[in-house]
Amino acid sequence: MTISAATKPHDQLAETLAQEMSAVNGLIRQRMASEHAPRIPEVTAHLVEAGGKRLRPMLTLAAARLCGYAGSYHIHLAATVEFIHTATLLHDDVVDESGQRRGRPTANLLWDNKSSVLVGDYLFARSFQLMVETGSLRVLDILSNAAATIAEGEVLQLTAAQNLATDEAIYLQVVRGKTAALFSAATEVGGVISNAPASQIEALHQYGDALGIAFQIADDLLDYQGDSSATGKNVGDDFRERKLTLPVIKAVARATPEERAFWRRTIELGQQRDGDLETAMGLMRKYGTLEATRADARAWADKARRALQALPDDPIRDMLSDLADYVVARLT
Ligand code: IPE
Ligand code: IPE
Ligand code: MG
Ligand code: MG
Repeated sequence: MTISAATKPHDQLAETLAQEMSAVNGLIRQRMASEHAPRIPEVTAHLVEAGGKRLRPMLTLAAARLCGYAGSYHIHLAATVEFIHTATLLHDDVVDESGQRRGRPTANLLWDNKSSVLVGDYLFARSFQLMVETGSLRVLDILSNAAATIAEGEVLQLTAAQNLATDEAIYLQVVRGKTAALFSAATEVGGVISNAPASQIEALHQYGDALGIAFQIADDLLDYQGDSSATGKNVGDDFRERKLTLPVIKAVARATPEERAFWRRTIELGQQRDGDLETAMGLMRKYGTLEATRADARAWADKARRALQALPDDPIRDMLSDLADYVVARLT
């Protein structure tokens, strides 16, 4: 297969895994429907047809291919992972009171919170059905642990938000839970279903964990530096939601007493006025925290790439390596 040099790493993966991805999308479409409650296909189609990068299912397919899997359950697992992701997005947009996702109004805005929560629950349940069909208890163990860890991460973030005592260690715990847990489960189950050696499964886990952390750190940068028309999400949501993400944590750590009073008013007390987001950005620029945050993301991406060394030398492995670089430099 020829791969054009200009395509982004996840386009290359999508191209290489096109046939399997189309089977995954077919399975997603089939299982997101419901005969009995028309609101379900309305909401799921709104989100699923808007696209999304499909990064996590591609990771599962790539891991299975890399480990020489010859069966067909990787399709189920990839769909499972995207269902879990979609369910968490529905819930997350309610929790974050977000208005835009994948370039469209969020389901909570278009319908209501109740629909988003319940359809999210439905998708979670559908994901369990899909994973059970693989018949692998080990896979069930990994994915059900990931689902619990994601929820834990989101709840931990709830209490870490609006609290200036939130430090980098707590941030890392949140990010590992809410985002990296699904990335690492996605890669790991690809190895497990292939009966890969323990060392390879461990490497896949390490890769997914570090990639997921790099990905979320970059996402938190995009919340301040991104272009909403590219990301499909609103800029400044995290500040408005009074979330302590890495660029803010680093600025709070270096704040003068006067600056600390600003953070206390805007983040802890939530008394935000026009111009506060610009002031916050100014403080982050003053201390170079956006650049420092990007350097952290880059370090996690490097860690992800190093983990790949334990895996078979293969064009897919090179694409996964490029993907690690891409998640840090990404614009969407
Ligand atoms: C969004 O993930 C949620 C985060 C972990 C930041 P993606 O950016 O992968 O979302 P889609 O699926 O491409 O929309
Ligand atoms: C995404 O968290 C993680 C989950 C969906 C569990 P965020 O709230 O940071 O992601 P976006 O910015 O809404 O995509
Ligand atoms: Mg959110
Ligand atoms: Mg959130």
